[in-house]
Amino acid sequence: MERPADTVADSAGRGVSAVAEPLLAVNAIEVVYSRQAMVLHSLSLSVPRHGIVALLGANGAGKTTTMKAISGLLRSERGEITKGTIQYDGQRIDRLDASRMAARGISLVMEGRHAFGGLSVEDNLRVGAFTRRDGAAAVAETLDMIFSYFPRLKERRRSHAGLLSGGEQQMCVIARALMARPRMILLDEPSMGLAPQLVEDIFGIIARLNREEGVTFLLAEQNAAVALRFATHGYLVENGRVIRDGLAAELASAPEIKASYLGFADEGMAGFTERKRWLT
Ligand SMILES: Nc1ncnc2c1ncn2[C@@H]1O[C@H](COP(=O)(O)OP(=O)(O)OP(=O)(O)O)[C@@H](O)[C@H]1O
Ligand SMILES: [Mg+2]
Repeated sequence: MERPADTVADSAGRGVSAVAEPLLAVNAIEVVYSRQAMVLHSLSLSVPRHGIVALLGANGAGKTTTMKAISGLLRSERGEITKGTIQYDGQRIDRLDASRMAARGISLVMEGRHAFGGLSVEDNLRVGAFTRRDGAAAVAETLDMIFSYFPRLKERRRSHAGLLSGGEQQMCVIARALMARPRMILLDEPSMGLAPQLVEDIFGIIARLNREEGVTFLLAEQNAAVALRFATHGYLVENGRVIRDGLAAELASAPEIKASYLGFADEGMAGFTERKRWLT
């Protein structure tokens, strides 16, 4: 890449901010499902080390598809990256399986909050550590660290995860991803179906994990207003293409973004939750 080491590229390949080489770089990928439906068209994005990047867009824009492409999950859905490359920490990962991602320090939290209902909260978290080889004491230390960020989960550590509220389940799946000690978490719609105060709480925890533990985040969100308050950079996707990107603070006032979130602000939270219900 012919680009100074202290910049990241926006979708047009321009440098947008003074940070080191990106941890994750998606370079002009095209994704096709079942050999016919093209869903992503030359989509590019960069995630700086220790950044929080928001991937924004309406229903069906291609956010989840992008997350699955990065985490090697497309194949199980008859999807394929037909053009472009994905680099993580300077190495190509677009031909790797999902099973190889954890070892590289990438965790994915899928949309729809899938905690293992039959297991206790603590056992859910321990499942997240199963790829680790650094011993029980180190895992116990991570568990303590995670409980310090999620005191609510600590209180409920012996409860069946199936009995948790929606917000607690979202915390549980984020916490489970953290148990692998990832450098980067891909988080698909953390705010989905949650009341505004819980959304604030969860984003507040994400921001602290980023600041204090150095975890890098790529967040897919329909809720642009909230995501851009916590993110460093944002990308707005429409019909599988990035139509606008840049620093979060600048993007928050962009007309395309205002149009995208005012659309569902009018509808209110109830409409938003309703539209997403089929997914959960
Ligand atoms: N397995 C699949 N096979 C075929 N088409 C798919 C598949 N998964 C998703 N799509 C299509 O790809 C497009 C992008 O979907 P995707 O789930 O990536 O959007 P999204 O931005 O995550 O939307 P949402 O906000 O509703 O979660 C949609 O048109 C969707 O119908
Ligand atoms: Mg989605």
